[in-house]
Amino acid sequence: MKNPKPTTIALLLAGSIAFLAGIGGLILGLKVLNALALYVALFVLSYFIIYNFMQVFIYRKIKLIYKSIHNLKLGKDSAYGEHLSDDPVNEVEKEVTDWAKSKRREIDELKRMEQFRKEFLANVSHELKTPLFSLQGYIHTLLDGALEDEKVNRMFLEKSSNSLERLCSLVDDLSEITQLERGEISIMPEPFDINKLTKEVFDAMESKAESKGIKLHIKKGTDSSFFVFADKERIRQVLTNLVDNSIKYGKTNGETTVGFYDMDENILIEVSDNGLGISEEHLPRLFERFYRIDKHRSREVGGTGLGLAIVKHIVEAHKQIINVRSTQGIGSTFGFTMKKSKEK
Ligand SMILES: Nc1ncnc2c1ncn2[C@@H]1O[C@H](COP(=O)(O)OP(=O)(O)O)[C@@H](O)[C@H]1O
Ligand SMILES: [Mg+2]
Repeated sequence: MKNPKPTTIALLLAGSIAFLAGIGGLILGLKVLNALALYVALFVLSYFIIYNFMQVFIYRKIKLIYKSIHNLKLGKDSAYGEHLSDDPVNEVEKEVTDWAKSKRREIDELKRMEQFRKEFLANVSHELKTPLFSLQGYIHTLLDGALEDEKVNRMFLEKSSNSLERLCSLVDDLSEITQLERGEISIMPEPFDINKLTKEVFDAMESKAESKGIKLHIKKGTDSSFFVFADKERIRQVLTNLVDNSIKYGKTNGETTVGFYDMDENILIEVSDNGLGISEEHLPRLFERFYRIDKHRSREVGGTGLGLAIVKHIVEAHKQIINVRSTQGIGSTFGFTMKKSKEK
């Protein structure tokens, strides 16, 4: 019998005891009627004793355990557990298993976070080291005599300045991402035309694009107003990052196209380039902090590896999604959605 109830156990035990006693009585020469009376009396008595014994020693003790586990689970004193069913053993077993499972999950999550934190710290210090060490090198070279050498002193100062710039953008991105992750940055949405904003971003990136011969334009047929309800400055940051990447990882004399698509409730914004492209295996990890396909190349073009992580945070803070599709050697398209605005 699986999971018998206390009453069933008491009934069975009392029945057996009384039955054995009755048979014993018969063997020892009791009359049938007397043996029957003995049977009934013993049955009632032992049932009563066994049942109460179980109540007192098992049910109450288990109820206490059950209650404390329950309170522990809820993290407070609660009246739950006062009305335990007549099957406390099973219920406690279930409760304990559930509890163990949820604790297991919590521990796994904590371990994962701990691992995450360690990796992040290792990444940060590693990223800081590179520009810091170069800076140290340039300054030492200058102090060791290059300062007086008219042919190289300017070059070393410029290199120092570049390293310093990298250091600053790294620290900026780091503080940005920590703020986003701690939920300290609130989204302040307003209605605005995303086509207009894109053109502003194009203007700001114009000279960078030009230096690589890249043309920035709005996709044919989508060059009209698209009003979205979002945090304008944050979206400017998103567009700047995506356009910046399309230039950095685009091919010389290539082009970057931004298109807008009306999707009923949302507007889909797509930033495409015809550059390097990204192979399949990298796509799922692209939005992770510090994830770069080619670290060396990214550093060379002034990347911190945090841009896409920041972009993803901002889009998700708007409760919208971002994705990427890409073919190596052909180009990449980053698409994100924003809520359509009812007002203009
Ligand atoms: N348009 C793109 N084409 C090809 N690769 C890209 C593109 N955008 C991003 N990537 C890849 O994704 C990585 C992460 O991008 P991001 O987080 O912006 O870092 P960063 O620009 O600082 O290198 C880049 O290092 C690059 O390898
Ligand atoms: Mg970037």
